[in-house]
Amino acid sequence: MSLELRDIVVEYRGAHNSMVRAVNGVSLTVEPGKVVGLVGESGCGKSSLARVASGLIKASKGSVLFDGEPVAPLSWQRRPRRELGLQMVFQNPYSSLNPRRRIDAQLLDGVPADVPRRSRRSYVLEQLDRVGVAPDVAGRFPHQFSGGQLQRIAIARALVTRPSVLIADEPVTALDASSQVHVVNTLTQLVRDLDVGMLFISHDLALVRHIADTTAVMYLGKLAETAPTAQLWSQPGHPYTSSLIAAIPQVKAGAGLPVALAGEVPDPANVPTGCAFRPRCPHASDECTREPELWPHRAGRSACWLIHPGTEIPVRPAQPVA
Ligand SMILES: Nc1ncnc2c1ncn2[C@@H]1O[C@H](COP(=O)(O)OP(=O)(O)OP(=O)(O)O)[C@@H](O)[C@H]1O
Ligand SMILES: [Mg+2]
Repeated sequence: MSLELRDIVVEYRGAHNSMVRAVNGVSLTVEPGKVVGLVGESGCGKSSLARVASGLIKASKGSVLFDGEPVAPLSWQRRPRRELGLQMVFQNPYSSLNPRRRIDAQLLDGVPADVPRRSRRSYVLEQLDRVGVAPDVAGRFPHQFSGGQLQRIAIARALVTRPSVLIADEPVTALDASSQVHVVNTLTQLVRDLDVGMLFISHDLALVRHIADTTAVMYLGKLAETAPTAQLWSQPGHPYTSSLIAAIPQVKAGAGLPVALAGEVPDPANVPTGCAFRPRCPHASDECTREPELWPHRAGRSACWLIHPGTEIPVRPAQPVA
């Protein structure tokens, strides 16, 4: 079952009745057994898109289709069984689990009705085992676990309902490096073993590189580029992608400091006309005062005037702007 986002727009009402367009026409598809990585700087609209995708908030425009059917924003209690196939993992496992209830009890709540009464507990323990949590600690409270363990428990809780698609919004950002590796490995293993689709949201492009089949780069509410991950790294089709890659610290000796992205992310309430990346782009020209479209670029798409339909002009690596 795939998840399809079509032309999603999310608007929030800001101060003095102003309108903030956090997401401005994004389309994405998450197929079973595939990981779509969604990256971009803070405030570009990733979580807003995730909330729409999971039905937590309603899109101002556009549609969300799960298994070809529209996803209605409903409270979790009233969710039709079919839509439980769509589960979310949040950044902070402490806030996504109830601190006053034992974790086995919390997981039992989500067990599908077709699991017989006598096997419900072993079904829960099986899911915990899948994420590497031992059965003898299942009766503990959330505060008795580390952050990394708790995030794996939050994943197990999502798995209990047998989801088809997981939406993971910065699932490892709050964890230390070794827990990050553990949780990321758990998630990717699940995608392959259970044929679950995953939208993996992160501001960490280097992490997404290792797990995503496709990577989508978002800038100020829009997709700047989407491409198979290997291509995105070797032949980025958008100067913003090149800048994000150049900003990643290298471990290699003599690699020098990363190239910081020039300028600040503009205020979403005051987006520049034409290409929104124009004020920070080392390649900006007069052309860029007109809005680019997501044109085909090799096996992906890029919203940059350097890429014209039908022709391929390689983008030079981003240069620091004085
Ligand atoms: N409930 C809200 N009301 C008003 N504005 C909001 C609301 N939620 C988000 N925004 C604004 O929408 C924009 C996008 O926010 P969002 O949380 O989607 O970004 P993000 O890409 O997830 O950022 P981060 O990487 O920091 O998590 C931001 O400018 C934010 O201030
Ligand atoms: Mg966010």
